[in-house]
Amino acid sequence: MAKHDLDPNYLDPNYEPVVNHTDNNPFHQVLAARMQRRTVMKGSVGAALASVMGLGLAGCGSDSNDGTTSSNVSSTDIGFKAVPTSTANEVVVPEGYSTEAFLPWGTPITGSYPEYKPDGTNTGAEQEQQMGMHHDGVHFFPIDQKAGGNSSSEGLLVMNHEYINQGALHANGATKASDNGGVRPADEVRKEIAAHGVSVVHIKRDTSGKWDIVFGSPFNRRITGNTEMDIRGPVRGYSKLITKYSPDATETRGTLNNCAMGPTPWGTYLAAEENWHGYFANSDATQPREQTRHGVGSSSRYDWELADSGEDQYVRLNVSSIGASAADDYRNEANTYGYMVEIDPFTPESKPQKRTALGRFGHEGVIFAPAKEGEPVVCYSGDDSRFEYIYKFVSSKPYYAATAGGYLLDEGTLYVARFNDDGSGDWLSLDLNDAEFKAKVDAAVGTTVGDIAFDGFENQADVLLNTRLAADIAGATPMDRPEWGAVDPNSGQVYFTLTNNSRRTEDQVNAANPNANNRTGHIIRWSEEGNDHTATSFDWDIFVFAGEQGTETVVGDEVIVSLTDDNIFNSPDGLWFDYNGRLWIQTDGSDAAPYQNNMMLAANPETREIKRFFVGPQGCEVTGVVSTPDVKTMFVNIQHPEGNWPDSSDPRPRDATVIVTKDDGGVIGA
Ligand code: FEO
Ligand code: CA
Ligand code: CA
Repeated sequence: MAKHDLDPNYLDPNYEPVVNHTDNNPFHQVLAARMQRRTVMKGSVGAALASVMGLGLAGCGSDSNDGTTSSNVSSTDIGFKAVPTSTANEVVVPEGYSTEAFLPWGTPITGSYPEYKPDGTNTGAEQEQQMGMHHDGVHFFPIDQKAGGNSSSEGLLVMNHEYINQGALHANGATKASDNGGVRPADEVRKEIAAHGVSVVHIKRDTSGKWDIVFGSPFNRRITGNTEMDIRGPVRGYSKLITKYSPDATETRGTLNNCAMGPTPWGTYLAAEENWHGYFANSDATQPREQTRHGVGSSSRYDWELADSGEDQYVRLNVSSIGASAADDYRNEANTYGYMVEIDPFTPESKPQKRTALGRFGHEGVIFAPAKEGEPVVCYSGDDSRFEYIYKFVSSKPYYAATAGGYLLDEGTLYVARFNDDGSGDWLSLDLNDAEFKAKVDAAVGTTVGDIAFDGFENQADVLLNTRLAADIAGATPMDRPEWGAVDPNSGQVYFTLTNNSRRTEDQVNAANPNANNRTGHIIRWSEEGNDHTATSFDWDIFVFAGEQGTETVVGDEVIVSLTDDNIFNSPDGLWFDYNGRLWIQTDGSDAAPYQNNMMLAANPETREIKRFFVGPQGCEVTGVVSTPDVKTMFVNIQHPEGNWPDSSDPRPRDATVIVTKDDGGVIGA
């Protein structure tokens, strides 16, 4: 998310606060950046190239830009003509492609299908039956997937609603507690909570090619910031999750700030809880480390805990110690957030499950390695805050397609990444049964880790509850805000966007994050040792540095990429490999010149050819992309648009999904 300034109530400049106060920087004396970013301003001469120490990346296909010729056309070639940057309040795609806005905020999808009211007077109860706001991560599940099919004409479109535009949500904007006797009208709060969460929409394409909702389908569903959920995995039942609502620490309500997601190999959807800390308020004199390491403040972003009805579902967001014990208040409510939440879209009555073994942090999303029969399940997740980390989970139990399910995510090892400056990397176990990690933990007891006086972990549940702190102790590499990950279906390489980090100073650079004041970001990738996703070591390189015209990605002495008008971009965020192996890169960055509106580009992972495919309307970020299995219908989400996009007759901007098709019915990107 970005563009907090779009929302007048969104004034916290530390929305993604720097809360890693450790000095995890094993590369103070970086001898040479392995991958070099050079920016050659148009017309300038003599840009200095610092020393580089380029190494080839084992098993990563061609590292050169001459690997593909017209006689050697690969399925990942980029076939369209790049579109220019744009400042228009409309979607731009290449010639030969068409777009249509679909499922905008407020579209009725379930229950009594209450009509969207452009005057903003829909109630909280109505919003609970309509599409939420701020569309983000999205996945298309073919309707016949459970039967082994791959329909491209009917399926369940599941998407996250990350946060809200309070000004657009209500008829006359939000009522501030400070203007209203210290309370907020309960139905405004109900509506705001209902505009968060996840939507499941059964959609179908008719014979003319038009997609629509299957009205009355039992699959259509809203999950909100107030839906009942189970806690699963090692943290389930841990005393630090005891609340008035769940004295046995096994349940909670709601999922919030759901950014990206990941489909599981068994046909469910994992929604990430990213900047959840901002929804809680703690007025105690001191806060526990479970909150300070995430930035929970004394007031919450939307003041939901101040709803004038005083109902428990709102009061719970006040995480101060106000009762006699943890079972009498909600001091632990924030400990039930920060997880990946599993939703089974094919079982509408199923209760969402928070999978704690994957760690508790600012989960941007999750990406699974291809599942292999009889082998562990592996998935990767980034923690999107400045100087936070990239994690990998390896299940204890093996995957068998016939019996696979969410239980596979409840037992396993959580690792965190260390990127070494020689191009190697290590996965550091965060399991107290691992001797190396246990020794580091024992050595840290009695010391100050960042700004936390460390007195140990009670058990593995405590480790997972404090995943960031555990990773600090393990010696992970602080990254430039890890956003989405993607696994190349052809090479098995794992890619992650590092969106930006303007706070990194010269003495905080490391080889994997080599730019101080990194305002434009880069994309890193790695190959697991032996192309085995369960391996504990890997080789990495930087796929591309984002930036303005002339920004070069240099390996050794070879310029692999030099950005031009066809592909300048900044702040890569969304990232997805389509089913043919083309890489789609979405941006959430500065929309000033030269970049203009946020965009989506396509890349050939072998040649690193990159072309701009899509430019969003004004003010938005472009986030969330998936296609039908045939890659002939693409769904692209537009978050926090401005003005009156997509409907010029509507006074309010509405987040929406954009359907992209090729006019000749062909494969998108080809
Ligand atoms: Fe919600 Fe990190 O973007
Ligand atoms: Ca972002
Ligand atoms: Ca994002």
